[in-house]
Amino acid sequence: MKFEVFVFLIIKYNYMCGIIGYLGKKPVVPILLSGLKRLEYRGYDSAGICIRENDALRIIKKEGPIKMIEAKLNGLQFTSQTGIAHTRWATHGRPNEINAHPHSDCTGKISIVHNGIIENFQALKKLLEREGHTIKSETDSEIIAHLIEKFYTNNLEEAVVRAIKLLEGTFGLAVMSASENKIVAVRRGSPLILGIGEGEIFVASDASAVIEYTQQVVYLKDNEIATITENGYSLKNINGESLNGEITEIKWTVDEIEKDGFKHFMLKEIFEQPKTVANTLRGRLGSREIKISVNLNPKIIDKIIITACGTSWHSSLIGKYLIEKIAGIPVEVDYASEYRYRSHIVGPNNLLVVVSQSGETADTLGALREIKNCETLGIVNIVGSTISREVNSGIYLHAGPEIGVASTKAFTSQVTALILLALYFKKERTGILDQELVAELLMIPEEIQGLLNQADKIKEIAKNLTAAKNILYLGRGINFPVALEGALKLKEVSYIHAEGYPAAEMKHGPIALIDENMFVVFIINHGPIFEKIISNMQEVKARGGKIIAICDLENDVIKKLADYIIMVPAVSEELSPLINIIPLQLLAYYVADLNGINVDKPRNLAKSVTVE
Ligand code: AGP
Repeated sequence: MKFEVFVFLIIKYNYMCGIIGYLGKKPVVPILLSGLKRLEYRGYDSAGICIRENDALRIIKKEGPIKMIEAKLNGLQFTSQTGIAHTRWATHGRPNEINAHPHSDCTGKISIVHNGIIENFQALKKLLEREGHTIKSETDSEIIAHLIEKFYTNNLEEAVVRAIKLLEGTFGLAVMSASENKIVAVRRGSPLILGIGEGEIFVASDASAVIEYTQQVVYLKDNEIATITENGYSLKNINGESLNGEITEIKWTVDEIEKDGFKHFMLKEIFEQPKTVANTLRGRLGSREIKISVNLNPKIIDKIIITACGTSWHSSLIGKYLIEKIAGIPVEVDYASEYRYRSHIVGPNNLLVVVSQSGETADTLGALREIKNCETLGIVNIVGSTISREVNSGIYLHAGPEIGVASTKAFTSQVTALILLALYFKKERTGILDQELVAELLMIPEEIQGLLNQADKIKEIAKNLTAAKNILYLGRGINFPVALEGALKLKEVSYIHAEGYPAAEMKHGPIALIDENMFVVFIINHGPIFEKIISNMQEVKARGGKIIAICDLENDVIKKLADYIIMVPAVSEELSPLINIIPLQLLAYYVADLNGINVDKPRNLAKSVTVE
């Protein structure tokens, strides 16, 4: 067995989970199950429910995806109307039934579900074991149940408050007890919302789990404690002071979180992009102005720092090219996980831009919280998310819910928002609105639609890549980050090793990888470096590499060099990433689907990473 050798630096792997809870008049088990299914994209290695029946708690757990616990619950009788549930992504402890949530205390009278990481759990575990508690699982989460047991005197809220004061780390937490019909929910770092219904209250990690029941939600802030009873809910801070929860109306419909006849959410979301790019543009492109409301003075901005993770980092890199070219403002781009721990050279006339689809990614939030002395702006998709509430101003993508773990429509909407931002700065600083680019931008949704009509052809090309072991993606200038994103999409959903590179960098090393087994995807658009890329293609061909060309210009040389050509419409360089990424998203999708992979739930990944 050929081992691909990877060098691991000291990295702690943490991911995230989905929590759902309900207290109301309806049978709780069907509500918990449908909520878990909606949250499954957040983690899917094991799941469990806890319901309260006849002053006792009943916990049922199962390793594997939601359909496993659904089968286990099938045929069992339940009368309860109060319960909590959890779908897990393992951080501490293998994915198995014992480590699955909910976890309970020694008496079985306290039960908890937790999303996040307790960093001081080893110390607390030792303390609790010294006091005689028996910890059954390998998880950090279970100790929370025992801590609450330690402080429990028939007032669950009070015991939860005392317990969380000892916790270091992050949590979205829902707690139940056998002797009180209530759910206590609290967050610090991990997202948690309340769903407000008629005579019923939901608690969940995100709104997608409750919108089939209510569109009224309250986003809990850090250290806010919600107590849910038959009489509704109360909100307090950690000092016991009452709070008024701000109710937000969710604009999504249930249809938007359904697959609409597509095999996978990823494919649906790729095909949604003509609409979602138009949504990001809607109401923002005026004939004389760019209408984005950012409460900062664009004239004094002297440097922009953009920080993000994953796909959002790739769109941020494109943002650098756009803002520097269109608005002439210097831009630095950094991985949020690196930027947050670096020494920050930030001046009062700088602007920190954070880009995040979910608005909950811990590293991006962490980087944002590091910067105090300049304006901050968020480019975010999820309305009401933590990042959107902590920046000074922001641009919502309006791309609708993105369920597929591999981000697609959020990427094109992020790039669109960054183009708008660049045009806005130019207009505000020079008085000039680039009408030509604006007119072309308005045509992009149609251009993307035209490209999507080539899906079958791209699927045919994908058939040749299903057995590939390694693929290189090469682009130049503003399309170098597109090459990075194309490679990430393939890695994420097909598990084939892929790397994105600036095409000219290839001869400084990666060219050594090229032989007749290596596929190389080139992004080659008309423009000043067209010929340069042709020579890069010749370097690959000379070493037997197989070439797939994403090209916007009919060219005989390319016809000779490339094994497969995907023609794309020719647009301005600034807009070309919105076009070139579409065939790369489809290529990754079809390679993975043809290899029988569950594209929406790729292994080892979850939708947004809410812990460090
Ligand atoms: C992209 O397909 C991945 N899901 C991942 O890289 C993602 O882009 C990253 O975790 C950042 O997420 P965010 O945009 O929600 O902050």
